[in-house]
Amino acid sequence: MQKKAKMILEKDFKIAEIDKRIYGSFIEHLGRAVYGGIYEPGHPQADENGFRQDVIELVKELQVPIVRYPGGNFVSGYNWEDGIGPKESRPRRLELAWRTIETNQIGTNEFADWAKLVNAEVNMAVNLGTRGIDAARNLVEYCNHPSGSYYSDLRISHGYKDPHKIKTWSLGNEMDGPWQIGHKTAEEYGRIAAEAAKVMKWVDPTIELVACGSSFQDMPTFAEWEATVLDHTYDHIEYLSLHQYYGNKDNDVANYLALSLEMDDFIRSVISIADYIKAKKRSKKKINLAFDEWNVWFHSIEGDKLIEPWQEAPAQLEDIYTFEDALLVGCMLVTIIKHADRLKIACLAQLVNVIAPIMTENSGKAWKQSIFYPFMHASVYGRGVALNPIISSPKYDSRDFTDVPVLESTAVYNEENEQLTIFAVNRDVEDELLFECDIRNFEGYKVVEHIVLENDNLKQSNSATDTPIAPHSNGNAAIESGMVTASLPKLSWNVIRLEKRK
Ligand code: AHR
Repeated sequence: MQKKAKMILEKDFKIAEIDKRIYGSFIEHLGRAVYGGIYEPGHPQADENGFRQDVIELVKELQVPIVRYPGGNFVSGYNWEDGIGPKESRPRRLELAWRTIETNQIGTNEFADWAKLVNAEVNMAVNLGTRGIDAARNLVEYCNHPSGSYYSDLRISHGYKDPHKIKTWSLGNEMDGPWQIGHKTAEEYGRIAAEAAKVMKWVDPTIELVACGSSFQDMPTFAEWEATVLDHTYDHIEYLSLHQYYGNKDNDVANYLALSLEMDDFIRSVISIADYIKAKKRSKKKINLAFDEWNVWFHSIEGDKLIEPWQEAPAQLEDIYTFEDALLVGCMLVTIIKHADRLKIACLAQLVNVIAPIMTENSGKAWKQSIFYPFMHASVYGRGVALNPIISSPKYDSRDFTDVPVLESTAVYNEENEQLTIFAVNRDVEDELLFECDIRNFEGYKVVEHIVLENDNLKQSNSATDTPIAPHSNGNAAIESGMVTASLPKLSWNVIRLEKRK
């Protein structure tokens, strides 16, 4: 018997207006993300500042609204002053987080220039590992103060008359991790984050701040860390961060695709902790979430152990993504959208070459990985109101999960353009899924397009020369009397785009 899933959508069943920053990404001074990724002077496609225009074009296709920078683990040993002023005077440093040589040819100003070229804001991280309050407040002054003070005038002397007006700032990175330079206990981090936040806002009261949550859900200090950090920082910050990477280490696709349920559980837990501290403090303020590192990361881990240290921009964390990875990324995107009421920032980590949707060859091509497509579809078509669908789906059990819905789906309604987009993954490893969606509440809507990403080979990936993983628009979604029907091929990512007839 054919498997069938049903969904009901109503205009007024809303989760929240989506903050476009949930389609953010991340560029760290790591591997070939910056050097050989966004920046390669001498490349045939480089502009006068050395930025690769082929990469800029691909980033623009993703419509990434915000990019976290400059790390990641890197930021915990970074002197931001190394990356400003004349390039020829900038120091070459031993970069201890990733054991490379950092040439500092790209720094704060160049990155702000690049972000403008791709129409993105910067989410700037400050170093709370080796540095602290002083370096953090000086960086805010350098970036955001108009003029007439030491650091703002220094910026102007570097050719940047107008302040960068960076709104979103991250207070360090993964400070709970023993691998972090300047690793701290929750008490130590909570105190320094609160004090740094306080003076950063004294310099510029318009900024918003993200405090570090746990590095991943299985950290032994998870939950206690969040509670302690929030106890100290609650009145000074707006967001608490979450980080999580997944991998199909046991080659079990049914179990792998269920990992987004773990992500969902992680998000719910952090919301609960944030609200517990809210209650404890009798606060009226709500802390929102920034899932500012999420992705699949496992393909490159073993190989990277063999990399010789102290090279400039070696190929690090260059996961080559498969078709099944794109499906999990699709499930994770659906999960992120479903939490639009509390998740206001999310960053696919990362953007170019390092665990990234976009890859480059040094002196050669730029190309799209499998995960590029679901991320692009969500970012481009997932703007508007996240709807709260009623879904009934067949379920399955896998090694680590019970009651995994075969259909992972959500919908976004763009009231302004009168467009409705359904995102749907069929997790079934054997069968197509008959999908029925009741949209009778959306009168006069027609199907514009049914995009499908499918492939018979779960391990298929793209390369610089070949793109076997690419979506097609031959899905069979149709609408009759307000009922949308579609066959979702086994193991597929689907985007059903509807709009009101003109
Ligand atoms: O994104 C790669 C690394 O993963 C980041 O530097 C760090 O924050 C995380 O552990």
